[in-house]
Amino acid sequence: MNKLLAAFILILIVHAPLARANKCVESVNDPLTTEDLVNQLLPALHRQAALSESIKWKSDFLKDRLVTDPQKARQISDSVFEVKQLQYEVAQAIKDMGGPQSPALWDAYFQRAYNTVAASSSSYLQTVALSISKLPSGKIIDFGSGPGNFSLAILLSSPYRTVHGIDMSPLAVQSATNMLTATVPQAKGRFHFQNGNLLEMPPNQLKGDGGVMNNVLYNMQTTREKVNLLKKVRSQLKPGARFVLNDPLPKGQNEAELKNWLASLAESATRNGSPLTEYDIAFLSEINRSQLTRGNIPFSTPKELINIAQQAGFVLVEGPLETYGGLVTSLVLEVP
Ligand SMILES: C[S@@+](CC[C@H](N)C(=O)[O-])C[C@H]1O[C@@H](n2cnc3c(N)ncnc32)[C@H](O)[C@@H]1O
Repeated sequence: MNKLLAAFILILIVHAPLARANKCVESVNDPLTTEDLVNQLLPALHRQAALSESIKWKSDFLKDRLVTDPQKARQISDSVFEVKQLQYEVAQAIKDMGGPQSPALWDAYFQRAYNTVAASSSSYLQTVALSISKLPSGKIIDFGSGPGNFSLAILLSSPYRTVHGIDMSPLAVQSATNMLTATVPQAKGRFHFQNGNLLEMPPNQLKGDGGVMNNVLYNMQTTREKVNLLKKVRSQLKPGARFVLNDPLPKGQNEAELKNWLASLAESATRNGSPLTEYDIAFLSEINRSQLTRGNIPFSTPKELINIAQQAGFVLVEGPLETYGGLVTSLVLEVP
C-alpha cells in the first residue's frame, strides 16, 4: 500500500467538471489526470494523517519519533524482517488491535500508513484515475470506501455522479466524510458514507448505476468467500451497471522483493513531506509482511479473478488490465 498527500486548487475542483459538462455529456468519462489528483487529493490525505496519532505499543526497540531520514526509515522497515523479537512485538500489537479483519486495525492503518504512503505514489493515483474513467454517470457505490480517495475522485470527475461509500471501519467512514466535506463543499448532498459490513447487507438497498471496489476482495480467504462477497456487491447494483474491480496480484510474496518494496514505501514517506514515526513504519511493514508471506496466499491471478467475477454473475467487459505499477489486476464488469 502507499500514500500520497499543500493547499487545494479550488478553481480546478470547481471549474474542471463544469467545463467538461458544458462540452458534452459523454465527456463525464474523461479520465482525471494524475496531476489533477495530486493537486486535489494529496493535500487532504496529508492533512488527515498529520492530525492523527501515531500507532503505539510497548516497545523494547523503537521510540515514538518521526523518521525524516530516508535511510533510517529503510533500516527500521528492514529490521522488522531481520529482528525476530521486533517482529513478535509488532505482531502482538496488531493482534491486540483485533487482527487483520478488525475495524480498529484498518483505522490505524489508514490514519498512519495508507494516507501518508500510498496516496503519494503516482501509480496509485493513475489507478484511481483509470478506474473512475470506466464508470457511468449516476449513483456510484464505493464498496469498502476506506478513507474516500476513490469517492473524492468520482465526485471531482463529473457533476453527474453521486457517491455512496460503504465501509466496515467507523473511522474510515468518518475520515471519508470529513475529507469530502472539507475538499468538495460544492458537492454537499452528492455523497454519503455508510458504516456497515458488505457481507451483512440486505440485497437491493443501494441500487447503484455503477460501482468500484479497490483492494477489498483479497481480504477474503477462500474462492467461495470471494464469490459470496461479489454476489453481495452485484445485488446492490442495477442491471446494466458497470463495476470496476481492482485486486492485488500475487506479487511481492518473495521475501527479498517484499522487503525492498516496503522499505521504499517507508522511505518515500520521508521524501513526500509526510514522515511516519518509528512505530508507524514497523506497523506498516509487519502488517504487509505477515499478510503477504503467509502460506495460504489469498491473492488471485487475473484468470482466477475473472472466474470469481463470472461465478458471482458479472459479465467481463474489459480486462484484465494490469494497474498500480503492475501490482494490481483491474476488471471492468457489468451486471447482466
Ligand atoms: C485496503 S483498504 C482499501 C480502501 C479503499 N477502497 C482504497 O482503495 O483507498 C480495504 C477496505 O475495505 C474495508 N472492508 C474490508 N472488508 C469489508 C467488508 N466486509 N465490508 C465493508 N468494508 C470492508 C476495510 O475496512 C478497508 O477500509
